[in-house]
Amino acid sequence: MTRDLFETFFDAVPSCLPIAPGAVLLRGFASAQSQALMTCVDQITAQAALRHLQTPGGRAMSVAMSNCGRWGWTSDAWGYRYVQQDPLTGKAWPAMPAIWLELAAQAAATAGYPGFEPDACLINQYLPSAQMSLHQDRDEKDFAQPIVSVSLGLPVVFLFGGPKRSDKPQRLRLAHGDVLVWGGPARLAFHGVMPLADGEHAQLGRRRINLTFRRASAHPPPETSPAAPG
Ligand code: SIN
Ligand code: FE2
Repeated sequence: MTRDLFETFFDAVPSCLPIAPGAVLLRGFASAQSQALMTCVDQITAQAALRHLQTPGGRAMSVAMSNCGRWGWTSDAWGYRYVQQDPLTGKAWPAMPAIWLELAAQAAATAGYPGFEPDACLINQYLPSAQMSLHQDRDEKDFAQPIVSVSLGLPVVFLFGGPKRSDKPQRLRLAHGDVLVWGGPARLAFHGVMPLADGEHAQLGRRRINLTFRRASAHPPPETSPAAPG
């Protein structure tokens, strides 16, 4: 079998690969739903446009981003944070589609994190040469909740490191439908994405879409105060 055929074969068979303590790669976990997922991406980005955010240092990110869910991640001169309104429109972010919630919860449970209820999904669009430098996801309130990351479209080399920026990262090839889940001892692992190689994907064309599901607010939400007696 040629390498391409070999990879195509393994991309098509869902499998569960441990990457590091707390981190699991679910190959092809989202493949069967990719059309429905992309229909939702189109609907969401029609309301909350993909945009190139500024880093606090003033550079434009090469990846274009949008969000859905109660909270959306954003970045500008004042720093990184979650906000409940899209800064471009002042409106609430589009709702998280039910099939997205279900997919994220099922992937998390398969990876050993039952009861995941994401309230934020960052949508990342990579065109050829777009990349993301090594970083930690640390703007969330509860690091007991995992990160669920879905890859669609062109394949990419994903860097998965350790808790220190200087830890040598593993290089993982992430293809259409792959889902990476990290939590527990891996929750604050440094990670990033190498520049996207040009290509043509049968469904998405010349791009890669990544959906990153997170629990941004405290989990479970703070108790509402009990009604006054009487
Ligand atoms: C991210 O870390 O927000 C994006 C990861 C990815 O695109 O795979
Ligand atoms: Fe990240």
